[in-house]
Amino acid sequence: MEQYIIKGGKPLRGDVVISGAKNAALGILAAAIMADETVTIDNLPNVRDINVLLQAIEGIGAKVDRISDHVVKINGKGIASVDIDYEYIRKIRASYYLLGALLGKYKKSHVALPGGCNIGSRPIDQHIKGFKALGADVKIEQGMISTCAEHLVGNHIYMDVVSVGATINIMLASCLAEGKTIIENAAKEPHIVDVANFLNSMGANIKGAGTDVIRIVGVDKLHGSEYSIIPDQIEAGTFMMAAAATRGDVLVKNVIPKHLEAITAKLVEIGATVEELDDSVRVIGDKRLANTHVKTLPYPGFPTDMQPQITALLALSKGTSVVTESIFENRFKYVDELNRMGANIMVEGNSAIIDGVEGFTGAMVSAPDLRAGAALVIAALVAEGFTIIDHIHFVERGYEAFEEKMEKLGACMDKIDVEDEKAVQKFKLKVG
Ligand code: EPZ
Repeated sequence: MEQYIIKGGKPLRGDVVISGAKNAALGILAAAIMADETVTIDNLPNVRDINVLLQAIEGIGAKVDRISDHVVKINGKGIASVDIDYEYIRKIRASYYLLGALLGKYKKSHVALPGGCNIGSRPIDQHIKGFKALGADVKIEQGMISTCAEHLVGNHIYMDVVSVGATINIMLASCLAEGKTIIENAAKEPHIVDVANFLNSMGANIKGAGTDVIRIVGVDKLHGSEYSIIPDQIEAGTFMMAAAATRGDVLVKNVIPKHLEAITAKLVEIGATVEELDDSVRVIGDKRLANTHVKTLPYPGFPTDMQPQITALLALSKGTSVVTESIFENRFKYVDELNRMGANIMVEGNSAIIDGVEGFTGAMVSAPDLRAGAALVIAALVAEGFTIIDHIHFVERGYEAFEEKMEKLGACMDKIDVEDEKAVQKFKLKVG
C-alpha cells in the first residue's frame, strides 16, 4: 500500500498540463466497443479507473491495443460475451456503461449491479427507466442486471433527475435503436457532449448534447473512428484550487476555459486572480481569500466533484462560508480529516459550515474517496509540517501522475510505500 507524504508551506508555481477527462473517457471506451471496426482514442488519461474498464472490455473479447499511455485502439468485432462480472463493477461503477453499449449493439447485456459507494447511495433507476422505454426487458436477479430486447425502438424519455450516467447509458443504447429517441432533462456536462461527439464520429446521429434535450436518430451500425478526449475539467479545477490555496501562481494548460467557468467565477469572487487564455488558465493567489457560499449543481453549476477541494480552500479563507452539497447524500466524509489538520468545519445536513482558520498543521489523514483525497492533498500543501495521506488508491483512480505534477510545481510531495520503514526519514532528509 502506498501513501502520499507532503511537507506543506510552498506556493505552487509554474505550468501544469491537464490530462484527458476521466469521466468522458469512461463513456467513450464503452462506446468504442459498439463498432466492429477499429477505433483509436487519444488523450486517454492514464489512471486506474480507465485501466480497469479496459480490462473489462478485453475480458468480453474486444481487442484492446494500448499503443501508449495515452492512446488505445479498440476493436469490438470479437466480443463473445455480454457478461460483466462484479469484480469490475466493484472496482469501477462506470463499467455499467457497458450495459447500454452492449444492449445497443447486441440487444442484450448482463452486468453486475453497482452498490452504493463512499459518497452515498447511488440508484440506477433512471438508467433502467430509459432502457425499458426503448423496449428492453430489464431484470435484476442475484446481484446482476440483465437487459434484452427483440428490437430497440426509439422513444420520448423524460428523466426524473438530471443524471450524467443515465444520459450516457441511454444515448449509448438508443443510437443503435430503430427510429428517434428524445431524452428530456438530460445532463449537460462537458463529458456528455464528448461522448456524443465521439459516437457521431462513429456514424451515430445525436443532436443537442450539451442542452437538456438530446435527439438521437438510430442508425444500423457504427464504424471505426479516431478521436481525442477533452481535457479533464475536474483535474484542472483541482490545480486551480491548489494554486489559490498555496498563494501560488500556476498556469493550468490544455484546458477548455469555458468548462471551468463555475470554478473560475468562485475563485474570482473570493479574491483570487484568474486569467483565461485560449487553452489555459492562470491562477494567482497572492493573499488570504474571502468567504462565500457554494451550492453544487449539475453543469453549468458548481460541480460536486469540486466540492471537497473548494471546502479545503474556504477553510483557510476569512470569515464563515457555507458549502451545500445537492447531488450526493454523503460527500462530507473528509471533513473530520480536515478538522484534524486544524480546520473548523461543522456539517449540518447537506451543508458544511466553515469558519476560516489562518492555517493548517500536518497530520496523518485518510482519503475517503477520490475528490476528498485531492482536497486533503491541497490542505497538506498548505499545512505547517508533514502530512501523510493514506488510501491514495482512491486519488489514483482519477488523477494521473498527481505527485509528479505537484512536484513539478514546486510541492514537496512524494509517494511512499507503507512497508518501507525508512521512507518517511528519507523524504524528510530530502526536503530538509
Ligand atoms: C457522474 O456520476 C460522475 N461519474 C461522478 O464523478 C460525478 O460526481 C457525478 O456524475 C455528478 O456530476 C462518472 O462520470 C463516471 P449522476 P453518476 O447519475 O453518473 C441520482 C468523480 O469523482 N441518480 O449524475 O453516477 C444520484 O443518486 C465521480 O469523478 C438517481 O437518483 O452521477 C445523484 O444524486 C464521482 N437515479 C444524482 O442523480 C439514477 O438512476 C446525480 O448522479 C441515477 C442517478
